[in-house]
Amino acid sequence: MPSRDHEERKLLYMAIITVNGEEAPISPAAPHTTVLDFLRERGLTGTKEGCAEGECGACAVLVARPGVNKPTDWVAVNACLVPVAALDGQEVITSEGLATAGASGEPAALHPVQEEMAVRGGSQCGYCTPGFICSMASEYYRPDRCAHPKAEAEAAEGTAADSEHGPNGFDLHALSGNLCRCTGYRPIRDAAFAVGTPLGNDPLAQRREQSPPAPVATAYTRDDRAFLRPGTLSDALRLLRERPDAVVVAGSTDWGVEVNIRSRRADCVVAVDRLPELRELRVESDRVEIGAALTLTEIERRLDGSVPVLAELFPQFASRLIRNSATLGGNLGTGSPIGDSPPVLLALEASLVLADADGEREVPLCDYFTGYRQSVRRPGELIRAVRVPLPLSPVTAFHKIAKRRFDDISSVAVAFALDIEDGTVRKARIGLGGVAATPIRALAAEAALEGEPWTAETVEAVARVLRAQGTPMDDHRASAGYRSAMLGQSLLKMYARTTEAVSS
Ligand SMILES: Cc1cc2nc3c(=O)[nH]c(=O)nc-3n(C[C@H](O)[C@H](O)[C@H](O)COP(=O)(O)OP(=O)(O)OC[C@H]3O[C@@H](n4cnc5c(N)ncnc54)[C@H](O)[C@@H]3O)c2cc1C
Ligand code: FES
Ligand code: FES
Repeated sequence: MPSRDHEERKLLYMAIITVNGEEAPISPAAPHTTVLDFLRERGLTGTKEGCAEGECGACAVLVARPGVNKPTDWVAVNACLVPVAALDGQEVITSEGLATAGASGEPAALHPVQEEMAVRGGSQCGYCTPGFICSMASEYYRPDRCAHPKAEAEAAEGTAADSEHGPNGFDLHALSGNLCRCTGYRPIRDAAFAVGTPLGNDPLAQRREQSPPAPVATAYTRDDRAFLRPGTLSDALRLLRERPDAVVVAGSTDWGVEVNIRSRRADCVVAVDRLPELRELRVESDRVEIGAALTLTEIERRLDGSVPVLAELFPQFASRLIRNSATLGGNLGTGSPIGDSPPVLLALEASLVLADADGEREVPLCDYFTGYRQSVRRPGELIRAVRVPLPLSPVTAFHKIAKRRFDDISSVAVAFALDIEDGTVRKARIGLGGVAATPIRALAAEAALEGEPWTAETVEAVARVLRAQGTPMDDHRASAGYRSAMLGQSLLKMYARTTEAVSS
């Protein structure tokens, strides 16, 4: 809980964050100043800038966030994308803060993660190292890391659990947003797979047992520009009615790129990512309701595989660093035709709960997009939640076709949700991304599948229909012909997987 002193200083400075245990006023930073620039300005130059667009992880820092299995999680985020004003009242740890200061006069000790990186040769030029350290530390402190069942079994044998998990339960996806140009990843992986479990007297492990900092309402203004964080949904909706020009932000993983790379500035930014009404996840008898401002990591951990096609989506969506901030509201809010969640949510027949100062309405996602980056969402309206109807179709798949397996933008994305009973397709829902100005349902292919036997002949015929869906374009990522071909291949692949599953 913020102290009285903190409240008084906040009145003076408008916004304060705690960095490595010390309070720091945000002023005189501009409202668009990133956490990265703020830290470096304060001399914390361990936090590096590589790309300024969320691609390299050199800027990673840890933020205390509501935990999934403990009150607080240490979550690694890209400091280059988040405005520092968004962390008003929050706690940040940088690579400098991870090393614990020794007794007076003694040099600071290395954090166990730093120690492993040093002794296993995980750093050459060192530019990427602080970012790797922060991502690694976030995974080091993940409370359920050592509970990975395969990891426990393999730990006894001393062999890696699988290619993506160490014997210590370390999930290599934690490092998927960090790039290294000179060391090579083998020693970095060795360090990750060698870290132990935090000791009982580790201050950051102890910090997990207490509540995270509560979100605080923020009104940070400078030079006629404002970063505003309303405390409640009704305040936010009222504010958006008064300021229809305001830019809404949640995780800032899209907006941060606009600010850094395209030099966009907004007179008024309104943060909605900590509004409790946008952060609920409820499983009811007939639907799952997912708050629009939950991060993808939170959704992934809280659903824990119960919506299999979403579980398939998450690892393919950007990197862990991005997923630690990115929200579904932001992915749908941008209206991008190549966003990865819309194809999946279209296949799941999801709907959006839109809220404004007058109330709420529910819009099926298939009616939401109206044109390139356009939707039925009115000025002043927020996406409050995404509703996925239950029961789920039992046969699902998500195929993202991109140049890299992880951390890349889709050329084409296809999601399937099929009900197959007694060898016949009773219901088919297919969501597509990257083949039209908006994400679309493959209605002709769905109709061609329904009522047909789930056989190689049907699938060959429907793959031809699917190839003709949408109006794909040629661009630097893929040709129109390639995109069409991938649609058909996607169905063939799914068929092969389902028949393999039956025959094995
Ligand atoms: C390196 C990198 C990799 C990426 N990889 C992928 C990827 O693999 N797949 C993919 O789909 N995307 C990817 N993205 C894009 C981005 O991460 C996603 O679109 C993400 O879901 C955006 O969420 P956010 O909360 O960060 O949005 P923000 O940047 O906070 O907001 C984006 C916009 O969405 C709107 N918005 C946000 N929340 C709401 C709300 N509740 N109601 C109404 N409008 C709202 C606002 O208009 C806002 O301007 C990537 C981005 C980066 C930087
Ligand atoms: S500087 Fe590259 S991800 Fe932030
Ligand atoms: S050690 Fe040089 S970039 Fe990684």
